[in-house]
Amino acid sequence: EKGGYDYFMLKEIAEQPKAVADTLLGRIDPAGSLTLDEVRISPSELREIDKVVIVACGTAFHAGLIAKYAIEHWTRIPCEVELASEFRYRDPILDSRSLVIAISQSGETMDTLMALRHAREQGSKVLAICNTNGSTIPRESDAVLYTHAGPEVAVASTKAFLTQLVACYLVALYLGQVRGTKWGDEIQAVIKDLSRISEEVERVLETMEPVRALARTLAEKDTVLFLGRHVGYPVALEGALKLKELAYMHAEGFAAGELKHGPIALIEEDVPVVVVVPSPRGRSVLHDKIVSNIQEIRARGARTIVIAEEGDEAVVPYADHLIRIPATPTLLQPLVATVPLQVFACELATARGNEVDQPRNLAKSVTVE
Ligand code: F6R
Repeated sequence: EKGGYDYFMLKEIAEQPKAVADTLLGRIDPAGSLTLDEVRISPSELREIDKVVIVACGTAFHAGLIAKYAIEHWTRIPCEVELASEFRYRDPILDSRSLVIAISQSGETMDTLMALRHAREQGSKVLAICNTNGSTIPRESDAVLYTHAGPEVAVASTKAFLTQLVACYLVALYLGQVRGTKWGDEIQAVIKDLSRISEEVERVLETMEPVRALARTLAEKDTVLFLGRHVGYPVALEGALKLKELAYMHAEGFAAGELKHGPIALIEEDVPVVVVVPSPRGRSVLHDKIVSNIQEIRARGARTIVIAEEGDEAVVPYADHLIRIPATPTLLQPLVATVPLQVFACELATARGNEVDQPRNLAKSVTVE
């Protein structure tokens, strides 16, 4: 049942190209426009939406953080992202013009379910992005967009995360289309880029051996830090979460711009720091700033593990280890940048003798608050 892999997690990492392709399948018609038939909220209702609120936990929350960039960029609708467990306890401002998006692999997470119930009580529409057909969260929602990742068995979420991202991009593009904002060339281009992503993920998977070898050399470390910026920031958080839950190491993700506001004090000789570098094309200011950050931490002794786009030569002098990912549009980069972090955490867990599919103290679906 593990298909020849030692762990379900490895199998599920390898299934990501297919999972991503399956989640896109049938959602984009040949003319290039988006049809999301599972969204049972009418276009006129969607045109009235004045705010989007995403609620989720753990890895699904990280997908939500990334979705915010896409939703605000493509639709110009303000978007908040909140941990489902915090949401209803702070008296959030919601009404019938708020669209609440609940993201959950299992569809049974109690925190997320309680957040969506709270939203519906306030008259908001709820759209579920979920991987488990007929589970509680989609059943209680006004609309559902299923991710087609297939069953995810390993406790640590991998392929569900990538498909959650794809689903979030589809929702963002659909909202843009329905509301007539940014519809046209830009959306067509994004659709083209999305349809190539499955192959890009496949290419990343083919180059993971050096990442595994690197992970094995770090098995005795206590701490690994992760830095990112823009959509790379949630990717850094996700890399840190994977490492905590699988390798039981102290791992923290930071926004690179925050370094000088505190975290740089953590940098000492030989601390591994993974840096997710934005594309040098597009928002190149961010790229240049993060290259400076890499220089700063390296000057203070950090061992830099740099994830950067193919062809980005500026990072080469400052990378102790360089992990290449294919060039993608900025907003889509998390789909390829997360994969090496999954492999890294899985290999470190193995090297430390941990149970990869069943980390201690964790359950696949958390059905208590
Ligand atoms: C991390 C992980 C958890 C889940 C979280 C939400 O690898 O598996 O953080 O992402 O418990 O679970 P779902 O998506 O089922 O609501």
